[in-house]
Amino acid sequence: MDKKFKRTLVTCALPYANGPVHIGHLAGVYVPADIYVRYLRMKGEDVLFICGSDEHGVPITIKARKEGVTPQDIVDRYHNIIKKSFTGLGINFDIYSRTSSAVHSKNASEFFRKLYDDDKFITRESEQFFDPEAKVFLADRYITGTCPKCGNPNAYGDQCEKCGSTLSPEELIDPKSALSGSAPVKVKTKHWYLPLDQYEPWLREWILEQHKEWRSNVYGQCKSWLDGGLQPRAVSRDLDWGVPVPVDGAEGKVLYVWFDAPIGYISNTQELLPESWEKWWKSDDSRLIHFIGKDNIVFHCIVFPSMLKAYGSYILPDNVPSNEFLNLENDKISTSRNWAVWLNEYLDEFPGQEDVLRYVLCANAPETKDNDFTWKDYQQRNNSELVAIFGNFVNRAVVLTQKYFGGVVPENAAPSDVDAAALADILPCKKALEEYIETFHFREALKEAMNIARIGNKYISDTEPWQVAKTDMARTASILYTSLQICADLAIAFEPFLPFSAEKLRSILNVSLDAGCDHRAGEGAPTENFYAPGEGRALHTNSVISSERSESRNLLHWSDLGAAELLSPGHRLGENGLLFSKVEDAVVEAQIAKLETARAANAAAAAAKAAAEAASHVEPQKDEVAFEDFEKMDIRTATVLAAERVPKTDKLLKLSIDTGIDQRTIVSGIAEYYSPEEMVGKQICILANLKPRQIRGIESKGMILMAKQGDGKMRLVTPTEALTPGSIIG
Ligand code: 2FM
Ligand code: ZN
Repeated sequence: MDKKFKRTLVTCALPYANGPVHIGHLAGVYVPADIYVRYLRMKGEDVLFICGSDEHGVPITIKARKEGVTPQDIVDRYHNIIKKSFTGLGINFDIYSRTSSAVHSKNASEFFRKLYDDDKFITRESEQFFDPEAKVFLADRYITGTCPKCGNPNAYGDQCEKCGSTLSPEELIDPKSALSGSAPVKVKTKHWYLPLDQYEPWLREWILEQHKEWRSNVYGQCKSWLDGGLQPRAVSRDLDWGVPVPVDGAEGKVLYVWFDAPIGYISNTQELLPESWEKWWKSDDSRLIHFIGKDNIVFHCIVFPSMLKAYGSYILPDNVPSNEFLNLENDKISTSRNWAVWLNEYLDEFPGQEDVLRYVLCANAPETKDNDFTWKDYQQRNNSELVAIFGNFVNRAVVLTQKYFGGVVPENAAPSDVDAAALADILPCKKALEEYIETFHFREALKEAMNIARIGNKYISDTEPWQVAKTDMARTASILYTSLQICADLAIAFEPFLPFSAEKLRSILNVSLDAGCDHRAGEGAPTENFYAPGEGRALHTNSVISSERSESRNLLHWSDLGAAELLSPGHRLGENGLLFSKVEDAVVEAQIAKLETARAANAAAAAAKAAAEAASHVEPQKDEVAFEDFEKMDIRTATVLAAERVPKTDKLLKLSIDTGIDQRTIVSGIAEYYSPEEMVGKQICILANLKPRQIRGIESKGMILMAKQGDGKMRLVTPTEALTPGSIIG
């Protein structure tokens, strides 16, 4: 870390509490952030790790309305699911609170009020869509209609989820209120705006000149926003769910969710550290890092920094690492289509396999481009990397030590150059790993950790202690001594990435990590949103380098990685156990089948919806006709006497009918909808005086009346009670 900083405040995007967390969120934001925090803590740095649920915003109110419950019910449900699942994956924030908390409401209000008092806002009156029936202003999401780009009849006023276009409600064809179905009307309303245009010169200098080191996707997005010219942004909304706008004349208005949510980072720090939170947010020797998804870039790099700048006294983010998107089995992850691997379900279905998911998501992280998660890749990475390399090496080293040396680290009795060479190879891995993590390249960092396992695996395969033991126990001792040092290196190197396995390995080796001070303790803070000490993994607490280690040699910390001797001869190992186990084909197939079921259910639902929509489609009225024209048509009832298919056709039936005037033949294209058997005896309506036509060599005299439905299917028009054949219709 840059020497001018004494502490690092790491925030993770606050997930919306309207659904569980899925692998896309994890790969994009939470796993990298957790790796970063664990790493810094292992290095003894002072770190605070902040997150919480984002509980406001229109989608939450829509979901509540659909389910017939309150928005609070929705956020209570998902806040708890999300919080628990993060812990389950070893992601232990110092605080995971929520934007519906009292602390946040007060803080966000105060933030707005200060900007208001300091004249940092402008107000504008504009015409907004209003539902005249429900008597509420409609957020863009509450307006649905047909997408002008792709014709999707269910596009939202802000976006079409079918073609991905960003829309405004004005663009929708035939817009409707999602609340009442009525056509929205425009009504004047006043809102507060943050004039981002005024911050543009400052943002250009701060981002484009001073933060050229930001990831190219982040920098590039900022540049294109800035080059496009910034506009004032509304920070209030007409809504009844959110933090009320704390000024007179703002009844029925709340803070825009993207105004209040990032303030949540500050509120949650206050909740955790009521006495000392300012040290983290207002000292120049504190460093702020926001881990976010790519759809959050503009809010964290442009809007929130402008808010902080307007407020004054706050530090600004030093970096804003953001990943691209993760796909699943070659398809976009989608909550509404249930095309996702949900963290809470994974944890239930794969107990003890938390690190496998962490490993795969990091190894395959969409750092520079969108990437794909597949279950086959999950299986392959587990079986041929974690099991075959890392696990296999550790198991061989430990089992052989038990076999030949009773589970005690042997003396380095007959060292050789190959041992020194293997150990020496670890230092460059460590250096590269550090550089990669510190520049937010977690995939590459993980590869370096894995390279240490490869070094060990190759070393033990090349030196073959099981063969050497037949003739030379001194040399066997040195090989296993060296192998065990590498195992200890792995217990350090993998702690940020695979905390469960690293802990298991330390237990096998009978060593521990240093644990230092804990920001979660004390200061009279309430405890419900904090993880109780000991609830998480050994090193999620803040680590301070301990001087004890060198004496006891049982405590490991980051600086030990690559050090010559981590386990001294005579040290007794703990109980052995497998670090990883094979993922069988059946497990992967079951997950793929689960996704296929979701896909089939989606397809069926989409087809049913399309059919319902088509069926409800009504053709516009035709041009007017004079009554005399109508009178010319002889429409009357008739009874079908006989029916047969017209040979060599799919659609035609030859019908013999009683018209009341005569018995005649009509050829009709109804075979698609009715069988000959169904037709016999039916009363129908016909246009009797249609000029006779030859159809397939048969003279057809008249036409059977059919109703064409919205979906294009035809049905017979039949009298509801028995009528005499030949009754005139008109
Ligand atoms: O995109 C999202 O999921 C938002 N809820 C992220 C908010 S981040 C922060 F500003 F709170
Ligand atoms: Zn569209």
